[in-house]
Amino acid sequence: MAEASSTNSGLRLAGKVAIVTGGASGIGKETAHLFAEQGARMVVIADIQDELGNQVAASIGSRKCTYIHCDIANEDQVKNLVQSTVNAYGQIDIMFSNAGIASPSDQTILELDISQADHVFAVNIRGTTLCVKYAARAMVEGRVRGSIVCTASVLGSQGVLRLTDYTISKHAIIGLMRSASVQLAKYGIRVNCVSPNGLATPLTMKLLGASAKTVELIYEQNKRLEGVVLNTKHVADAVLFLVSNESDFVTGLDLRVDGSYVYGKYELL
Ligand SMILES: NC(=O)c1ccc[n+]([C@@H]2O[C@H](COP(=O)([O-])OP(=O)(O)OC[C@H]3O[C@@H](n4cnc5c(N)ncnc54)[C@H](O)[C@@H]3O)[C@@H](O)[C@H]2O)c1
Repeated sequence: MAEASSTNSGLRLAGKVAIVTGGASGIGKETAHLFAEQGARMVVIADIQDELGNQVAASIGSRKCTYIHCDIANEDQVKNLVQSTVNAYGQIDIMFSNAGIASPSDQTILELDISQADHVFAVNIRGTTLCVKYAARAMVEGRVRGSIVCTASVLGSQGVLRLTDYTISKHAIIGLMRSASVQLAKYGIRVNCVSPNGLATPLTMKLLGASAKTVELIYEQNKRLEGVVLNTKHVADAVLFLVSNESDFVTGLDLRVDGSYVYGKYELL
């Protein structure tokens, strides 16, 4: 099987080609920067926020990063994202399927707005599934021992008092990861999840209608670990571990970056 080309640079992703969905903002943006710093040959950012996506790509530099418009809920667009990446850069070593959304309303089961829920499922479940499917196909066809990481959440393995549709969708992503990791193991392809606790990003700032500082204070209540506030770099570092050779024997893992998650104390989420 072909290994990704590597150099003696000591950089953890030397020579690798990576796709980052949701790379225009938040966790994806931070991770795209980190992948490039760690020597990735090319980071392809896929998002629907074209202006922001192009800005992130430009700030990383056109020799190492490019932006492609891709609505992950659209099968043709995901197919095109993967195919155009393979055509331009030869292969895909890393798929960070990270793009995701939350419903604007509370969404308890009693008040569930099924149209809003359908939209969340279309992006989070359908979109993530398509990204895993087409990345895996390209890796199998290219005989690449690749690494796929999906962003789930602490709500992928726990129920809470609201955000029902989001919680369902994140459980599904963990199920997807578990099935794909078993099915793709024979090709040497690893599939894992990263599951953050709450942190301040445009997604949560919008959800809570609050500034980054206020969002941090709110989520402060959801962890036991003292002395540290979760930020996008913590999550990106965990993703870097999962896509690098340092986790070469790790597959089927839901890596929680949660400071020992606790819910219910203030019911704030
Ligand atoms: N922020 C948190 O507290 C938190 C906690 C756990 C998990 N997550 C997950 O982390 C991931 C990243 O979220 P974030 O917090 O960085 O939010 P964010 O809003 O900053 O970034 C999400 C990105 O996904 C993009 N996106 C949305 N719909 C898309 C679509 N259909 N196709 C392509 N791109 C699309 C957005 O344009 C945005 O750039 C999400 O899956 C989210 O559910 C976030």
